[in-house]
Amino acid sequence: MENKKNELAERIQELKKEKNAVILAHNYQPADIQDMADFVGDSLELSQKAASTAADVIVFCGVHFMAETASILSPDKKVLLPESSAGCPMADMVTAEKLRARKKELPGAAVVTYINSTAAVKAESDICCTSSNAPQVVASLLEEEILFVPDMYLGQYVASMVPNKKYHFWPGFCPVHEGIKAASVLKLKEEYPSAKVVVHPECRPEVIALADEVLSTSGMCRYAAHPDVNQMIVVTETGIIHRMQKENPQKQFIPVSDTAICRTMKSITLEKVLRSLETFTPEVKVPEDIRLKAIGAVNRMLYIV
Ligand code: 13P
Ligand code: SF4
Repeated sequence: MENKKNELAERIQELKKEKNAVILAHNYQPADIQDMADFVGDSLELSQKAASTAADVIVFCGVHFMAETASILSPDKKVLLPESSAGCPMADMVTAEKLRARKKELPGAAVVTYINSTAAVKAESDICCTSSNAPQVVASLLEEEILFVPDMYLGQYVASMVPNKKYHFWPGFCPVHEGIKAASVLKLKEEYPSAKVVVHPECRPEVIALADEVLSTSGMCRYAAHPDVNQMIVVTETGIIHRMQKENPQKQFIPVSDTAICRTMKSITLEKVLRSLETFTPEVKVPEDIRLKAIGAVNRMLYIV
């Protein structure tokens, strides 16, 4: 088993060089994917990497909206998503058509769209944000009225941080983070009283209320490295623990729940990455008319952070 994985990883490295490809992986990816990737990060870092890479090919080990963002920012590069059905259920909770209809009802509102959204939805938006910059993005806007799309929990968190605005929340959410209950966090806090509690802002407000820190996935990894953090209750998808433990072998990371797993993130495998590099499929390419409309909202965010 280990031998087979090593062989696959070696073949991937060879093909990657041959084809001038870069492999980007999200912090929730399976351990063997993280270990062979060129860069592992959160949505903001991955979009910055996609925008600046000198590679001709980007193999995106993540979900569909991440590959689309790479295609928006780097239209001349080939963007591969090794499993074409790896979507984000939250991104699918809003469509461009429904957003257009809602915008008509709220003509004065700035549309702030979480990066976990389709390119077509970004194309209808004023500015994007990620979990690491959402409050800054909203605070930078002159508009007093905000339509926050599609994550209502992230939106509510932003509203608590930037309260001087009027908010309208799209009723979307991440099923993985929504499934994390305050009772699970409270139980672990009792069991590990000196552990720091770090929470992803896609969580429910009553879970966020229990946090020592509310951070993006890479923000959590940076926080894990602080010398005064020895034990951490990790309130997000469990795949992130691999990176935390690898970077801090002497520390203890406690997953909030063994069931906090994003199935689509886990559908990327070494076999699929290899096949992708061999065949240059499945490719993700945002149509040029949508890309030109969406890039404004993405770039506006990238100027701020
Ligand atoms: P991050 O940008 O914090 O990595 O979050 C992405 C995501 O999909 C969380 O569910
Ligand atoms: Fe989407 Fe949630 Fe999976 Fe992140 S964890 S990709 S928000 S379904």
